[in-house]
Amino acid sequence: MRTGENSNVIIFDHPLIQHKLTYLRDRATSHRPFRALLYQIAGLMVYEATRELPVEKVDVDTPVERTKGSRLAAKITVVPVLRAGLGMAEGVMEMMPEARVGHLGLARDEHTLLPVTYLQRLPKDIDAGPVILVDPMLATGGSAVQAIRLLRKAGAKDLRMMCLVAAPEGIKRLHDEDATVPIYAASVDRQLNERGYIVPGLGDAGDRLYGTE
Ligand code: PRP
Ligand code: URA
Repeated sequence: MRTGENSNVIIFDHPLIQHKLTYLRDRATSHRPFRALLYQIAGLMVYEATRELPVEKVDVDTPVERTKGSRLAAKITVVPVLRAGLGMAEGVMEMMPEARVGHLGLARDEHTLLPVTYLQRLPKDIDAGPVILVDPMLATGGSAVQAIRLLRKAGAKDLRMMCLVAAPEGIKRLHDEDATVPIYAASVDRQLNERGYIVPGLGDAGDRLYGTE
């Protein structure tokens, strides 16, 4: 793990994650293994993305004696951006089954590249703890910025973003909007192409995840 040029960008250069990411990038990888790989990488990334979460001390009776243990102290909310974020949320939930899940449905207009919001279902007390926004692709950053605005408006305070592949343009856009949001990514790729796709990237994450290409 290392930080990017910006210390609020954390890049996972772990060999296991890079190994799996390479299969995800491969155009020959079909939706079934794609789904499994996305799930696995998200599970690995969340380990680090939750390092600073608050814990509380609790008593626990082992079969041998009473001792002190730690438990997560706050209500955590995972928010996938539909559709592709769902594939990551499942891996995160495997590691944190107690977390609540809020949903944001955003679709990028292919011509304007602007996000259109079609669904918002968030816990009413989203301000009760950390919020982890998950979406595999941070391209122009339009969707992430829209998600952050909706989450802030709903009351989210401690907010972090977990993606797989980020473009430098998207990182800048997100941090111009809100530099306090840490970005966790498996890779920062070279650039965007004229259609707003990340290069080299992995193509359309939602289509590849659900076999709708
Ligand atoms: C993809 C991706 C992000 C967005 C990133 O979703 O999952 O949400 O594009 O692009 P941006 O940074 O330029 O906004 P898409 O809108 O294609 O929807 P989908 O997941 O339903 O395919
Ligand atoms: N959305 C995707 O799914 N892929 C990209 O490369 C850019 C936006």
